[in-house]
Amino acid sequence: MHMPFQNEKQRIIFVTGKGGVGKSTVAAAIAENMARKGQKTLLVELGDQSYFRYIYRRPISYEATEIGPRFFVSLWNGEGCLREYVFYLIRVKKIVNLFFDNKVMRTFLRAAPALKELAILGKITSGIRGWGPPLNFENIVVDCFSSGHFLALLRAPRGMAELIAAGPMGEQSRAINEVLRRNDLSKYLIVSLPEELPVSETIELSRDLTSELGIQPKVICNRVYLSDMSAAELNAPVSENASENTKRFVNFLKITLQNQAQQESVLHREFSNLKELPLIFSAAGDEVIKGLSPFISPELL
Ligand SMILES: Nc1ncnc2c1ncn2[C@@H]1O[C@H](COP(=O)(O)OP(=O)(O)OP(=O)(O)O)[C@@H](O)[C@H]1O
Ligand SMILES: [Mg+2]
Repeated sequence: MHMPFQNEKQRIIFVTGKGGVGKSTVAAAIAENMARKGQKTLLVELGDQSYFRYIYRRPISYEATEIGPRFFVSLWNGEGCLREYVFYLIRVKKIVNLFFDNKVMRTFLRAAPALKELAILGKITSGIRGWGPPLNFENIVVDCFSSGHFLALLRAPRGMAELIAAGPMGEQSRAINEVLRRNDLSKYLIVSLPEELPVSETIELSRDLTSELGIQPKVICNRVYLSDMSAAELNAPVSENASENTKRFVNFLKITLQNQAQQESVLHREFSNLKELPLIFSAAGDEVIKGLSPFISPELL
């Protein structure tokens, strides 16, 4: 049906979801887990600001930084990816810099976000397509933009392929698009929370991704307070001797847990293969990632 790509052994795992739900944390826990299992893995942050520099206490930049055995982290932004793309085409750094540092060009780049998005996806899929500088990893785990921006990112190559059907740009756009739609090569993970707004955004995003890609994303409910308390225990009245403050606090916890259970049941109804990750009691991002590690299983993907 289609020509095989150059490296069909590589996997891309896109991690998305609403802002602040734990995309970076979950992406890091998954990537670390893959590296521990013996697979050379690149964790990619998109954008200009690195979150992982605080987690791994190391500067993170475009080129991959080795963090541990088989585990690397990169920060890719649109302009960096586009620069690399153009450099790879013409192979003259001076001209590339002249081109990008030109005022007219800078204005054009600001006005053409789809071009940067195409360059980012071009870079992410370059290992599988065998195009550009080598990207020798078994897994590329991408800590993506949040929901709306992520959809715009995925739509960029199709828009571009429609816009310029002919020539190398059109061809590349079609190949990128194909990698994104191959469910053996590209995996999609939506991170959610047991809270109303993340849940409704997750349901909407999942539908949009399914209709856009024809691939069903996996959904993870993060920060679930796991407890083996029975309903009877949970609803037991607080001791009469407890202070007013304690009673109020217990009430608050009960209401919080009830809301959590309600939102989880909404997610379970919508996603039969829903996975849960527990709330980790730590304020330190690196400890949270470590705490999640025992709960990362292959079924997550
Ligand atoms: N399971 C968890 N238990 C406890 N804390 C968590 C858990 N998952 C994430 N956190 C914490 O929640 C905060 C937000 O997580 P994170 O930065 O990964 O979210 P994000 O979705 O990447 O955010 P952004 O949209 O800003 O990129 C962090 O402080 C992180 O340590
Ligand atoms: Mg993040």
